[in-house]
Amino acid sequence: MADIVDTRTDPEAALARATEALGRGVPVAIPTETVYGLSADATNPQAIARIYEMKGRPRFNPLICHMADLAMAERHAVFDPLSRKIAEAFWPGPLTLVLPIRAESAIHPLARAGLDTVGVRVPTGFASRLLSAFGRPLAAPSANTSGRISPTTARHVADDFGDRLELVLDAGPAVVGLESTILRVEGETIRLLRPGGLDLEAVERLTGRPVIRNEKAGAAIEAPGMLASHYAPDAPVRLEARDVRPGEVLIRFGGAALPGERDAALVLDLSPAGDLAEAAANLFGYMKRADALGAASIAFSPIPAVGLGEAINDRLQRAAAPRG
Ligand code: TXA
Ligand code: MG
Repeated sequence: MADIVDTRTDPEAALARATEALGRGVPVAIPTETVYGLSADATNPQAIARIYEMKGRPRFNPLICHMADLAMAERHAVFDPLSRKIAEAFWPGPLTLVLPIRAESAIHPLARAGLDTVGVRVPTGFASRLLSAFGRPLAAPSANTSGRISPTTARHVADDFGDRLELVLDAGPAVVGLESTILRVEGETIRLLRPGGLDLEAVERLTGRPVIRNEKAGAAIEAPGMLASHYAPDAPVRLEARDVRPGEVLIRFGGAALPGERDAALVLDLSPAGDLAEAAANLFGYMKRADALGAASIAFSPIPAVGLGEAINDRLQRAAAPRG
């Protein structure tokens, strides 16, 4: 089993162990505000290859490169004025920008899956301290085996990888609980590649422009990780449930009971108060609890598709998609 080192009780020891392992080319699981990431030195091809191997991830699917701050990001990616404005407003935070790679960047093409762009993010919290201490970008996908639910606790990560992982840094449950929102600016157009933990209405207010969601069914995959069946729990998922069937796990929202709850295997409420940020933070952990119970199926009551509800509904649709 991986060592779980608590960053809150001994941050200096956690930093020392993590930078030492990363320097040896060994992937380290790290906390971020969105989900836990499986990180490696983005300039070291052997280290990056280990991430793809450990996750069972197809190599055409690029990794997000995490930076200590905007200055570090500017050394690796080319910022147009609109991307810079968005970065200045929302970094550090749950936002990834896809930008042209700089010719002089040492980020290895394997981290970008050979693309001439790079997905860049500046996280908050302990990840940011680690990035400053390490001094180089860290490529980090979510710390789960490919196709599974992203981990929001150190325990989720350790359970998923077992002995194949050396070190997990623990900073407690992820505060946001959904992966970052991925945007790409093209000229004056802001395009959404993945809804996530940053509310798009905030981007629209800042820029005075609409964020274009144009993912028609069958359109080319632009964030290659956005395959339909993703974020899947073990149990089949039933959406828009208005009742719960005997033996099902019900994951509801907003505090109101549904018919049939007495015969449910378990009833969980993402946010009894109807708060979408709270619901986002609880979503993946609740799916894992339903799986741990061996649920025959998981029913979800409707969740409003506004604000963070857009990203929550995106993940639910992927969880319910036919399994490939
Ligand atoms: O919150 C997050 O974004 C977490 C934490 C650890 O930072 N990371 C994460 O990584 O969710 P991952 O690998 O599970 O998802 C990254 C997504 C994939 O869909 C990938 O295709 C897309 O980002 N991506 C990365 N680089 C890209 C690029 N250059 N162009 C288009 N999409 C890109
Ligand atoms: Mg992922």
